[in-house]
Amino acid sequence: MYRFIFKTVFTRIDPEKAHHLVISGLRLSHRVGAGRVLERLCRPEDSLQIRALGMVWPSPFGLAAGFDKGATSVLPLATLGFGHIEIGTVTAAAQPGNPTPRLFRLVKDRALINRMGFNNDGAEAVRPRLEEIREQISRLKRSGRHAPVIGVNIGKTKVTPLEDATEDYLISTRMLAPVADYLVVNVSSPNTPGLRQLQDISALRPLLAAVGSAADDAAQRHVPLLVKIAPDLADADVDAVAELVSDLGLDGVIATNTTISREDLHSDPEQVSAAGAGGLSGPVLAERSKQVLIRLRAALPRTTAIISVGGVTTGQDVAERLALGADLVQGYTAFVYEGPFWVRRINRSLSRALRSG
Ligand SMILES: Cc1cc2nc3c(=O)[nH]c(=O)nc-3n(C[C@H](O)[C@H](O)[C@H](O)COP(=O)(O)O)c2cc1C
Repeated sequence: MYRFIFKTVFTRIDPEKAHHLVISGLRLSHRVGAGRVLERLCRPEDSLQIRALGMVWPSPFGLAAGFDKGATSVLPLATLGFGHIEIGTVTAAAQPGNPTPRLFRLVKDRALINRMGFNNDGAEAVRPRLEEIREQISRLKRSGRHAPVIGVNIGKTKVTPLEDATEDYLISTRMLAPVADYLVVNVSSPNTPGLRQLQDISALRPLLAAVGSAADDAAQRHVPLLVKIAPDLADADVDAVAELVSDLGLDGVIATNTTISREDLHSDPEQVSAAGAGGLSGPVLAERSKQVLIRLRAALPRTTAIISVGGVTTGQDVAERLALGADLVQGYTAFVYEGPFWVRRINRSLSRALRSG
């Protein structure tokens, strides 16, 4: 059904408009009471519960950052069965992002190219939404209903010069750490000029150290802190990040963000070049994402969490990432191609795999 709608309707409209249409539909269905039905249909089985980062997660599979940048649709998305939802990237100041069009489908590769550029409402606007969501999540938990873990992913405001990046991240940290189950420092989006230079150890060390202590101070508890890295880092740089994470006692790493590479695509090269600059996501990313996961797992103790993301489509893909040493797994692009019951299929397939042992 979704595949038919995707082919006949969505592929004819601008991808960003289609995204907003889907979100509006989901929110509307939530408002008119369909959320309870969806929740019953999609709720992950209790057997999928796992412990990571000091919390219980209803399923190892969650929604990657970028889908709900402003925390406007967390509860409707939760009814689809995600074990966690990572909101953001949120920046200190609100910003419009890059000019449109800035999101492109490569249907043949079931991939996306985006140069959204952290379009978001800013930390101050997002905070009260998350306060409200946390209250609702607590209520859901108390009544034994499905309640995902909520992560908050922060990035640098575009107009802030790179040398002032730490202060910019700290504004978001102080505002959002108190309302986050875990916090992610995103230094890997290809769409904010210079951002990925923050992955250099000399810049990353002071940034992560400052965010870590500010987060705990602001929240008056330990807020698990993770760093999200790019697939385009050289192996030696991945190793250096792992060493830094160990050194600082960081809680984990998210690997990976989108790639700037255009290799191994099957789409028409003209279509690919017409899309222009941006981050590529989808199955084409899977191989490098797995390589980075394997490297990180070899370098990091089991107590350091790894969230694997990049090209995950099926329950088998999720199981493979877990077997390779991931503690949790995320996806984004396949949601666009597979539709609202994608998470349900993944969770069911994971439950079946667990049962068959
Ligand atoms: C349209 C779009 C927007 C994204 N925005 C963000 C973002 O704001 N912050 C971030 O950390 N990652 C962002 N991502 C990257 C995803 O979270 C994920 O790391 C990447 O897409 C690889 O996973 P996938 O192949 O399952 O999509 C975005 C991805 C897409 C497709």
